[in-house]
Amino acid sequence: MEYKSYSSFDPNFLWGAGTSSFQVEGAVQEDGKGLSVIDVMQKNPDITDFSVASDHYNRVEEDVALMAELGLKVYRFSIAWTRIFPDGNGEVNEKGVAFYDHLINELIKHNIEPLVTIYHFDYPQSLVEQYGGWLSRKSIEDYRSYAEFLFKTYGDRVKYWLTINEQDHVVRIPTRLGLTGDDHYEQLRLGYQANHNMCVATALTIKTFQELGIEGKIGPAISYSMVHPASSSPDDVLASKDAMLIKHNYLMDLHCYGKYSHMFWRYLEERNFTPSIEDGDLDLMKQYPPTMLGVNYYFSEAISAFPATKEYPIGYQKKALLPEAEAGVFEVVNNENLAATDWGWEIDPVGLRLTLRELHERYNLPIIITENGMGAYDKLEEEDVVRDDYRISYLREHIKQVLLAINDGVNVFGYCPWSFMDIVSGRNGMAKRYGLVYVNREDFDLKDMRRIKKESFKWYQKVIASNGEDL
Ligand code: BG6
Repeated sequence: MEYKSYSSFDPNFLWGAGTSSFQVEGAVQEDGKGLSVIDVMQKNPDITDFSVASDHYNRVEEDVALMAELGLKVYRFSIAWTRIFPDGNGEVNEKGVAFYDHLINELIKHNIEPLVTIYHFDYPQSLVEQYGGWLSRKSIEDYRSYAEFLFKTYGDRVKYWLTINEQDHVVRIPTRLGLTGDDHYEQLRLGYQANHNMCVATALTIKTFQELGIEGKIGPAISYSMVHPASSSPDDVLASKDAMLIKHNYLMDLHCYGKYSHMFWRYLEERNFTPSIEDGDLDLMKQYPPTMLGVNYYFSEAISAFPATKEYPIGYQKKALLPEAEAGVFEVVNNENLAATDWGWEIDPVGLRLTLRELHERYNLPIIITENGMGAYDKLEEEDVVRDDYRISYLREHIKQVLLAINDGVNVFGYCPWSFMDIVSGRNGMAKRYGLVYVNREDFDLKDMRRIKKESFKWYQKVIASNGEDL
């Protein structure tokens, strides 16, 4: 048997970049758009002014021209559900439909493949009010029929579709589910019901996609970060395996195999977190698995064992969003081998190669990296210069590892740094910038919003032009 060795990227490799609707569009209540849970949460902003974001809604042509100048082969963006259906279901908002129609046509005019995220955090507030949102099974059909509308409207031009962005995060962030109150434990329990309903909705949507005969690929965008045992102690190694299951693989096992593994189900049972499941749900997932995977990767984590004690009984968690400790299971500790960003995210390019291998071995799907990037305090210097050499070095080292993973046999067909332009970060506003393009605004001073090419833009332009040779 012969094995191919790849010393360079495939000529059709999709070099891209990404954004999401609520983080760049602005115009939160213009042209008939309804409110999302994000808009409601951010009505009383204390970290930044979200209402204008990066003003992309009013600058589509200018932004797409910059993407073309950069040489993008693919652009990942999300559709704001509440621009299409202001109430999440019911009446269509034609102006919203026209906005994305125009964006997609502009991309195609510039030979840029659109990669659409159907839902990226901005769930319709009205569905929360109508029936409790993702906690109700009614949410399944509303999501499916919203997606069906998108397939029928844009499916003649869009080949790549992402179903739900970072479901594992959404179910752990109460406000993104539209939950209020402060019963953390109860919110976690509800999160697992929402998670189950989202998995059913994803499978049904893939079924619809296939029945409509859309030519293309579809799958979730998952947040997936390698974990390393903090030491060679067998307890730490075991803890790191359990952490991988609880953080990431439980979800992929559902998407790809329609199964709650024995260990994960026991974990849910011990905490009274088991969701209610209807006959046929798991079979549906098994029958309609994703045909591609979007992978969001930023950092890895070092894991050590964390036994349950009287002080920290089963069920105890140190942090809600990305649990940093689960009594009886694991604890995230510093990795002294790695440097970190200003927000403490440990930079681990080899972790990306390991992540890709793990996903390939377990799920064997074509992969596109849908997010990878470095949030930083960028400084705009005189004459519109942003020297973000730290970002260049971050991206360069990760791209090298992508090629090595391809050589390992992983089918990676594209790479989208996060983000094309500066976005408003959900928790850190404009202070934490990710873009290749600088957007001239601060958190509360909206300035002139002008676009400025960072040094990383010029560098990535060369990378794309040389198909990854000139790193
Ligand atoms: C991912 C999200 O979780 O990480 C993005 O899909 C987000 O929307 C990105 O911007 C970086 O996270 P943060 O919190 O630094 O903005």
